[in-house]
Amino acid sequence: MAEPVQTVSYREATEADFPVIKGMYEQLNSYFYQVGYRLPHPENVGEIWLDSFRRTLGRFSNVHVAEMEIDGQKQVVGFMLCRLKRVPAYMGGVIVGELSDMWIDGRARRMGIGDKLSRLAIEWMRQQGAHSIEIQVLKDNEASWKLYERMGFKLEFRVGRLLWDEYEEG
Ligand SMILES: CC(C)(COP(=O)(O)OP(=O)(O)OC[C@H]1O[C@@H](n2cnc3c(N)ncnc32)[C@H](O)[C@@H]1OP(=O)(O)O)[C@@H](O)C(=O)NCCC(=O)NCCS
Repeated sequence: MAEPVQTVSYREATEADFPVIKGMYEQLNSYFYQVGYRLPHPENVGEIWLDSFRRTLGRFSNVHVAEMEIDGQKQVVGFMLCRLKRVPAYMGGVIVGELSDMWIDGRARRMGIGDKLSRLAIEWMRQQGAHSIEIQVLKDNEASWKLYERMGFKLEFRVGRLLWDEYEEG
């Protein structure tokens, strides 16, 4: 017999969701180091991350969450944080939207949740007047790039990092 289809619901996050999404961000941040990230790892990274957007929520940032019933309980199984920024005047001075961070619980992957959360963020930023949407994907994160590429994202930047012990001095 076919598995019953899981119902997933979506909404904007509130302060009450912060402890859960903070924990998810900590898992995401650890994952970054597996897929190419080379910046330092602060001690209380989840708390610092929350502080980077909590005061601008609903204006210059937004978090959407997905909820699903697991073991008879409705639980948050994923989040997406997006941010709006104004680029400098010499770059056109427009507002650009950024898909900033996303994590989907391992039990809820490949169900279309990442796709839906991304689109909710994109639509919110479109309504706020964003000129375009940016995404930064770490070099070995193929799953994530695939997800965005099929939405229409085109590669535009390459970002490199020089660590001092790797510097080929002239
Ligand atoms: C990347 C991630 C967000 C995808 O979430 P998800 O809910 O499983 O993705 P979806 O089910 O919406 O997948 C949409 C499409 O993306 C692509 N995709 C997603 N996961 C993939 C994987 N592991 N391998 C290859 N392609 C993948 C596929 O094209 C997929 O469509 P399909 O299932 O019809 O083939 C999730 O795997 C995750 O949380 N990864 C760790 C954190 C991360 O990389 N976050 C994003 C960067 S900040």
